[in-house]
Amino acid sequence: MRHAMHPRYASPRSRVLTIALPIGLAVTALGALWAFTEVPSVAEVAEEVVPPSPAVVAHLPGIEFASVDAAAPCATPEVSDALAAGDDEAVVAGFGGGVAFRDAVLVGNAPCISLTDPMHHWVVVNKLQALAPVDYEPAAMTEAPIQMTTASRLIDADAAAALGNMTAALQNSGAGELGMNNAYRSYRLQVANYSSQVSAAGQAEADLSSARPGFSEHQTGFAVDVVACGSGCGEIGAFGGTAESDWIAAHAWEYGFIVRYEAGATSVTGYEPEPWHLRYIGPGLASAYHEGGFHTLEEFFGLPAAPDYAH
Ligand code: DAL
Ligand code: ZN
Repeated sequence: MRHAMHPRYASPRSRVLTIALPIGLAVTALGALWAFTEVPSVAEVAEEVVPPSPAVVAHLPGIEFASVDAAAPCATPEVSDALAAGDDEAVVAGFGGGVAFRDAVLVGNAPCISLTDPMHHWVVVNKLQALAPVDYEPAAMTEAPIQMTTASRLIDADAAAALGNMTAALQNSGAGELGMNNAYRSYRLQVANYSSQVSAAGQAEADLSSARPGFSEHQTGFAVDVVACGSGCGEIGAFGGTAESDWIAAHAWEYGFIVRYEAGATSVTGYEPEPWHLRYIGPGLASAYHEGGFHTLEEFFGLPAAPDYAH
C-alpha cells in the first residue's frame, strides 16, 4: 500500500520535479513570447535603419531614427514622376511638403535629391560649394516680367512667374514698386563683375560682396537682385530701408523667395547683408524656411557654414 507523503517529506526525485517543472514552464512561455514579439536581430535592424552622421544628428533634436526608411520617399511615384517631369514643386509636395523634404535630406533619406545639382530649386551654392561644372549654363530661361534697370533680363521660368506675382502683390499692397537689376549672370559676366570689384576694393573686400566666378547663385538663374522703383528705380545698394525692402523681407517667402544674405549671417554665408539679393527655392521650401525661423540656406539644410573659400 502506497502512502501519500506530506510535501515536506517528499522524495528527492519529487523535490527536483517540484522545482524544475515551474522553471521549465516559465522558460517555455518566455521562448514563445520571444518568438511572437519577433525581435529583429542586430543585422536586421542595421538593414532597416540608415543612421545619420553625428554632424547631422546635431541638427535633429527629437527625430526618431527608427522610422527612417532608405527606400522612401524617393521610390514613390509622386516623387519619381515629378523628378522625371522636372517639376520641383511637385517633388517637394511628393515628400509631404517642405518640412518633410528637409527632414528627409537631413537624415539621409532622400538619395534622389542632390543639393549640388544646379537644375533644381534646392541647390546650394556658396563659398564651399561651387557650381558643377564651374561654367554651368541653365538649359532654358525666360525674360523677367518686371521693369529692368539693366539689359540682363533672363531668369529661370518658375522664378519669373513667382517674381511677376510678387511684384504685383507688392504694388497692390501700396508698398511701392519693384524693379530688377539682374537675375541670371553667366560665368563670363561674373568674371567681369568680380574683377571690377577686386580692382576697386581689393580681393578681401570684394569677397564680402561679390562671388568668385563659378560660386554665384546668379549663374543658376534662381537668384535675382531687386531694386525699389517708387520714385524712379534706385540702385541695389539703396534697396535696404525702403518700403519695398520691408515688404520683401516680410512676404517674399510666400512667393518662394528668401533673402539669401541677411544681416547677422556673414559668419555663415561669407557675405555682407544684401537685402536685394533674393533666391528662389519654391513656395514649399520657402514656407518651411520661414516657419522654421531660418536665416541661411546652410542652416536650413544642415550644411557647414561657408564664410570663406577653401583655397
Ligand atoms: N553678390 C552675390 C554674393 C553674388 O555675387 O553672387
Ligand atoms: Zn545678387
